[in-house]
Amino acid sequence: MQLEKTNIILGITGGIAAYKTPDLVRKLIAKGAKVRVVMTESAKEFVSPLALQAVSGNPVSDDLLDKDAEAAMGHIELARWADKLLVAPATANFMAKLTHGLADDLLSTLCLATPAPIVIAPAMNQQMWLADATQANLKILEQRRIQLLGPAQGEQACGDVGPGRMLEPQEIADLLAQQIFEQVLAGKRITITAGPTREEIDPVRYLSNHSSGKMGYALAIAAQELGATVTLISGPVNLLPPAKIKTISVSSAQQMHDAVMQTTHDCDIFIGCAAVADYRVQQKTNQKIKKSDSELTLTFIKNPDILSDVAHLANAPFTLGFAAETQNLREYALGKLQRKKLNMIAANDVSDSTIGFNSEQNALSVFWSKGEKKLDVADKQLLARQLMRLVAQRYTEDTND
Ligand SMILES: Cc1cc2nc3c(=O)[nH]c(=O)nc-3n(C[C@H](O)[C@H](O)[C@H](O)COP(=O)(O)O)c2cc1C
Repeated sequence: MQLEKTNIILGITGGIAAYKTPDLVRKLIAKGAKVRVVMTESAKEFVSPLALQAVSGNPVSDDLLDKDAEAAMGHIELARWADKLLVAPATANFMAKLTHGLADDLLSTLCLATPAPIVIAPAMNQQMWLADATQANLKILEQRRIQLLGPAQGEQACGDVGPGRMLEPQEIADLLAQQIFEQVLAGKRITITAGPTREEIDPVRYLSNHSSGKMGYALAIAAQELGATVTLISGPVNLLPPAKIKTISVSSAQQMHDAVMQTTHDCDIFIGCAAVADYRVQQKTNQKIKKSDSELTLTFIKNPDILSDVAHLANAPFTLGFAAETQNLREYALGKLQRKKLNMIAANDVSDSTIGFNSEQNALSVFWSKGEKKLDVADKQLLARQLMRLVAQRYTEDTND
């Protein structure tokens, strides 16, 4: 049974799809899960707590300030009991509360108090789903790694047609089981570089590039979701270090090279996603360069090639490189794959300003010695999940060869 020994809190909020939750509880239990139900006040208008108590085999919790419930299984204890907190259906109101960290009822308080991953299955009228506020909330929730199941498209209770239907109970149970058991990188150590590097010219100036670090950070999160222990080595970016991921901040290519070399001796997979400067100035001046002549000549020397150095190690980890190209994407990517002895390369076309550097979206063409795969334009976090699954697949096949 796929959900054996898994404790699930099912949070039910006040949407019409709440009537499907007794069936959802049964589907989760059929997979071996232990389920405790928490309801909002509105949810109780749509489905009976008694029915949920009967199908879950546990008392339903609904009141944060209930002395008796606190004496039995208090809210903190309940929060710690959970392996997953699933909110289905999740109303627009609940998503807004979750976004802002409100804790004014039992369910929203549990969301803040639990160390367990939170998964939401939104359900609402299509106009509510597409509303700017809901979409903005959704973005923040995804950044915080709240996992999203659905919503589906289709006919709605109100007669509208569009996105906002809750996934069917069986689909939710299946997806949850997949998420929990797809820990395909459990026990693996992965080092990922992200962001740009800064090559100092003098005390006030530097040479850098447009990399935002978003793709590397998204990959670090995706690798962790698959069970890996991740070290993220990051150039200067405007991003918060992802929770529970060891993040090492560096500035120059040389510093990034040193940090990488210190971690690769016990790493299984290395992903070079950083946009590392190929060159640095030969002689950084200690004083600010003054404006004098009409021309200024600087001499640049080559930086170490981090990807190539890792891939050429005697005990090299499985290595994935990135190639940001403005032309001849396939040809350049394949050349780099062979020249640098990489296991895989993910190439993106940075001449298209709607994807890649500094954008929320990306598209990739991934190549390895015996194959290739196109990952179509998608939000960077979604794309990172697809790419990490592909890396895990290739890594497993390569190490079993
Ligand atoms: C008949 C009816 C159906 C509703 N269905 C939904 C729904 O499917 N999704 C939703 O986001 N809100 C829906 N609402 C609005 C919520 O019930 C309302 O926003 C409520 O405050 C949600 O509270 P909760 O998030 O604490 O459960 C519905 C309201 C009514 C009266």
